Amino acid sequence: MKINVLFSPLNVDDLYFTGKTTVVIDVLRASTTIITALSRDAREVIPVNSIEFAMKVSGNAFGGQTLLGGERNTKMIEGFTFGNSPLEYDTDSISGKSIILFTSNGTKAVVKAKFSENLFIACFNNLKITAQYAAYLGNDLEILCAGSSGMFCIEDSVCAGKLIHEIRNIKDDVIITDAARASLVLSETLGLDVYKMLSECEHGQLLIKNGFEEDIKFCAELNNNNIVANFKTGVVKKTVLPDNEYTA
Ligand code: MLT
Repeated sequence: MKINVLFSPLNVDDLYFTGKTTVVIDVLRASTTIITALSRDAREVIPVNSIEFAMKVSGNAFGGQTLLGGERNTKMIEGFTFGNSPLEYDTDSISGKSIILFTSNGTKAVVKAKFSENLFIACFNNLKITAQYAAYLGNDLEILCAGSSGMFCIEDSVCAGKLIHEIRNIKDDVIITDAARASLVLSETLGLDVYKMLSECEHGQLLIKNGFEEDIKFCAELNNNNIVANFKTGVVKKTVLPDNEYTA
């Protein structure tokens, strides 16, 4: 099994992912929000890459089963029910509902990787179970960091490194590329205190400035759920990891 890390979606085009097994990471906050919504019984999350498309998809839905969520410049978009704070997605409001989610970088990264044969979403909250699923599949793995406007983000790269660390803990024959090694090295230092790292990184600073300090604490929680989030035909749903040699 070979693991590579892409530090920005801009490094490759959509067809690069064809037939691959991919994990998308946007710790602050899209992937954390997707995992949280699924853990709080949303039926599915539909990641989209434009606000216009989010409106279009929601216009076609009926019966009040679809809710719009997301952000522009970290703030809720006019006309949407939710922003992009994972803490907003409480079970009472979202249970059984489809959430159409637009975010500045995270959902765009998921859509970019749509041609992957297997596509998962990860954050610190579901790191261990995602590592177990990746080890169970045993396929070569691309970890796509959402980054920020095409630029490198420390928090996604540290999370990628920690994911690689988890996989190497449970699987022997893992080869890593230079980019994967760089993530691993970052995670061995900055990943020792995830909350501190998230509070100090550029996007974390912006979130704190905009009043989202509680989100940082939540996004820093390691393995607070067992959700494997699987993207297929345009939607992200929970999937169950079958019992296997890598299950704890
Ligand atoms: C993004 O996709 O850039 C983020 O999730 C932004 C945020 O809401 O913090």
